[in-house]
Amino acid sequence: MILPINIYSDDILRQRAKPLTGVDDAVKGLVASMFESMRNASGLGLAAPQVGHSLRLLVLDLSCIKKYEDEKPMVVINPYILAVMGSSDMEEGCLSVPGVQGDVQRPSAITLKYRDERFEEQVCDFSGMVARVLQHEIDHLNGTLFVDRMEKRGRRKIKNKLESLASGVVDAAYPVFAREVVAISKPS
Ligand code: NI
Repeated sequence: MILPINIYSDDILRQRAKPLTGVDDAVKGLVASMFESMRNASGLGLAAPQVGHSLRLLVLDLSCIKKYEDEKPMVVINPYILAVMGSSDMEEGCLSVPGVQGDVQRPSAITLKYRDERFEEQVCDFSGMVARVLQHEIDHLNGTLFVDRMEKRGRRKIKNKLESLASGVVDAAYPVFAREVVAISKPS
């Protein structure tokens, strides 16, 4: 089921999400809907709070990007970053902040402890685009958006856009959910 994406000004995007205690049928259903919603919106990653569930759960699929075709879709539950390495700048965007892009500096590699779709514990190293998207999505579980991490100069440029999103003017090619929203949906 395609779920509407919560937009910038929504409170749920600012909350600290709760850990999962296991994977039951409800969680499996949510994961399937998250993959469907993410692909429908052409996103690379999606965190549960973005679809209205304040849970420490995210999905990721980079296989639509060149050089990442062999990358398997991932379900990440209760992630915890054990270590970070290096630093890199990359332009980011977010399905919850449509129409806004900006450079964000983040560690270029991470060691992550998490539980997979079977709730089995994994400890893995990630780098490149995977590390980037993982960190962006993990931020969502802690109430942080990429625009919070942008430098002052970049933030000034997007100030008007953010204000208009906060006032409910949303221009997105996928279903969105926001309080008092005036959604203008473009056909994709
Ligand atoms: Ni995002």
